[in-house]
Amino acid sequence: MYPLNRNRRLRSTPSMRELVQETRLSASDFLVPLFIVEGTNTASEIPSMPGYFRYSLDLVTTEVAKLYDMGVRGVLLFVKVSDQEKDNTGIAALNPDGLMQRSIRAIKKAVPNMVVCTDVALDPYSVYGHDGIVENKEVLNDATVEILSKMAVSHAESGADIVAPSDMMDGRVLAIRKQLETAGFVHTGIMSYSAKYASGFYGPFRDALDSNPGFGDKKTYQMDIANRKEAINETLQDIEEGADIVMVKPGIAYLDIVRDLANKIHTPIAVYQVSGEYAMLKAAAEKGWLDHDTVMMEQLIAFKRAGASLIVSYHATTAIALL
Ligand code: PBG
Repeated sequence: MYPLNRNRRLRSTPSMRELVQETRLSASDFLVPLFIVEGTNTASEIPSMPGYFRYSLDLVTTEVAKLYDMGVRGVLLFVKVSDQEKDNTGIAALNPDGLMQRSIRAIKKAVPNMVVCTDVALDPYSVYGHDGIVENKEVLNDATVEILSKMAVSHAESGADIVAPSDMMDGRVLAIRKQLETAGFVHTGIMSYSAKYASGFYGPFRDALDSNPGFGDKKTYQMDIANRKEAINETLQDIEEGADIVMVKPGIAYLDIVRDLANKIHTPIAVYQVSGEYAMLKAAAEKGWLDHDTVMMEQLIAFKRAGASLIVSYHATTAIALL
């Protein structure tokens, strides 16, 4: 009660504020998404993600070495697949010499201590731009899960440390865990996109990978943005099925979900600050309407304050440079 309590006492100087700061960011909080393309010596900026690039494999290994030196301990790989390799079976995703498999091997060879996480979903490989096999305009669940578990094993065989299913099919975590066990990859982890919403914030990512859905939307598998209890159910199920890390996605608009989970579970929670969030800030900063770095740091701190222990973000290197 005032004047016994004066809240401004602990805010009076930078040192005082530092002493009582509850949440801190560090380089090892980040998982850095990397977009990989075929070719050599190519770094092409993604138009809707200013300052973010698609790299050819030779450049990506250098990039990963730089990240490791900055203190980053995990990367999350996505590949852009050529149109010829896209079909409705996802067979190209199992190619031991596919771009993903070659990338995992090259990165683990160049920077063995970097934790390599890989995207497991069919959308980059799908002629329909959907995360699974399509029949009569429907995304089939069980047939998709079968191919996803093979895809996960193929990534593990190439050296992936953690596979990250981003597809939202039911039962995929359990199926992947079983296949990994059978194949002897007992130490390969699973980071499950557990609470992944059917969001409008994914637009720039779909441009980056040329993976826009050819028909319809993803609402029959990604979650309804209006639901909270569903996110908790889905996440608890994924943990039961063997997820080592769970995820909430997108980030800023879903911090209530992050906090709810943090109050309920003891599994590490990752939050994905997605492409649209990145693009919005870049656009506002370009217009001079927001101070980029201040708002970026505010959002990143908010993720940790909400209860996330890992942050997937396109801002990682910019933020780390400021720490
Ligand atoms: C697809 C996938 C998406 C993202 C990651 N994996 C997009 C989608 O579900 O359509 C989005 C990431 C981002 O927007 O940054 N499996």
